[in-house]
Amino acid sequence: MTRLVIFCLFLGGLTLVMNLSSYNDVKIDNKRFDIKKAQEGHALHVKELKELAKMHLEATTPKVISDDVEIVEKTIIPLDTPQLVRANKLYKQCISCHGKSGEGKKANKAPKIGGQMDWYVEKQLSDMKSKIRVNKNMATVVSKLSVEDIKDLSVFISKLPW
Ligand code: HEC
Repeated sequence: MTRLVIFCLFLGGLTLVMNLSSYNDVKIDNKRFDIKKAQEGHALHVKELKELAKMHLEATTPKVISDDVEIVEKTIIPLDTPQLVRANKLYKQCISCHGKSGEGKKANKAPKIGGQMDWYVEKQLSDMKSKIRVNKNMATVVSKLSVEDIKDLSVFISKLPW
C-alpha cells in the first residue's frame, strides 16, 4: 500500500514538473500593450480579409469576355509560321506610328504600310538601316533591326490588310 502511495505521489510530482517546464515555452514580452497599435493591426487585418474576399469573388465568378476584348486579343492575320509569330512580336514597336494593321497615322506622318509588297518594304527598311533613305522617325527603330528582323517584318506587313 505504501509503495502504491509513493508511486502515485511520484507520478503526480512528475506531471507537475513536466507542466512547469512547459512554461518555459511561453515567451515573456515586457512591451507595453498599446491599444493604438492593436487597433491599427486589426484594421490592417480586416483590410486584408476584404481584399481576399474580393479576390475570391473575382476568381469564382466566371469572366464575361466582351466582344471588343476578343478583337483586341485576336491577331489581325493568322500567325501560322514561326516567321510570322516572330514578326508579330517585332511589329509591336511599329504600332504607335503605323497602326495595328499598318493603316498608318496622319498625326505621326506615318504612311500606310499594311499589304505593301514585301520586297518593297524590305528594300525601304534596309535602305533606312544603311541610311540611303533617311527619316529621323524611323532611324532609331530601324537601327535596332537585324537583317532577319527586316525580312520577317516585311513578310508580315505584306500580309496585313491593304
Ligand atoms: C516614331 C514613328 C515610327 C515608328 C515607331 C515606325 N515608323 Fe515606319 N515610318 C514612320 C514615318 C514618319 C515614315 C515616313 C518616312 C518618310 O517620310 O521617309 C515611315 C516609313 C516607313 C516605311 C516606308 C513606307 C513607304 O511606303 O515607303 C516602312 C516600310 C516602315 N516605316 C516600316 C516600319 C516598321 C516595320 C516599323 C517597326 C519596326 C516602323 N516603321 C516604325 C514612322 C515610324
